[in-house]
Amino acid sequence: MILENFIVFEGIDGAGTTTQLNILKKKCGSNFLFTAEPSRSPVGKFLRSMLGGNVPVTNETAAYLFAADRNEHLNADISFSEDGILCGGIKKACGQGKCVVCDRYIFSSLAYQSIDCSPSVPRMLNSLFPLPELLFYFDIDAKTALSRVDSRGSREIYEKLDFLEKTVIEYRKAIDEYRGEKGSGMKIVDIDATLPVEKISEIIWTNIADLPIMKA
Ligand code: TYD
Repeated sequence: MILENFIVFEGIDGAGTTTQLNILKKKCGSNFLFTAEPSRSPVGKFLRSMLGGNVPVTNETAAYLFAADRNEHLNADISFSEDGILCGGIKKACGQGKCVVCDRYIFSSLAYQSIDCSPSVPRMLNSLFPLPELLFYFDIDAKTALSRVDSRGSREIYEKLDFLEKTVIEYRKAIDEYRGEKGSGMKIVDIDATLPVEKISEIIWTNIADLPIMKA
């Protein structure tokens, strides 16, 4: 099932999704809402502590928590954090004609949680969530991405070279699964994340301008 007006950015840490989202925010009007996973919900906050290495949980529990956070983010009532980020209510907001842009979604779980869990675990936990109308996948090698992460400060638990190399492989596999019938109705835009920032933002804008909501 496709959720209309829902746009997702995906890629490993350091792929540049956040940079591009910040550029996009400046171009979009009030009809656009921006958000990210882990979300600002209580479950998302717990996940952030886990990612910082402060809460030891099993890998499967982490997979359940990412899915639980996603459920809140999608299905709860609309609410915003103090800095104007959507905490929950993606479905309702899209249904009201807003365009919701989210940094990370189910493909992050399919990639990251396939490494330490059986790949069937994130697939099962995420099978009921709707697909976005438009998916931007930022493809980049782990080494280049990690050098970007290092230039901005301390690393989180998943930000290690061997782990990110495996994540790239799992990401490509996961996205490929959706190129056929399973993803039909979802437009996948593959981005070479080593291209200059301006070139990437151009590609993104061209695809967003092409959405039905932009022509309504
Ligand atoms: P990230 O977008 O890197 O957040 P930050 O703003 O702190 O840079 O996301 C944090 C980490 O969470 C990232 O390493 C990927 C991981 N993650 C998963 O493992 N599974 C998921 O389902 C999601 C949404 C994120």
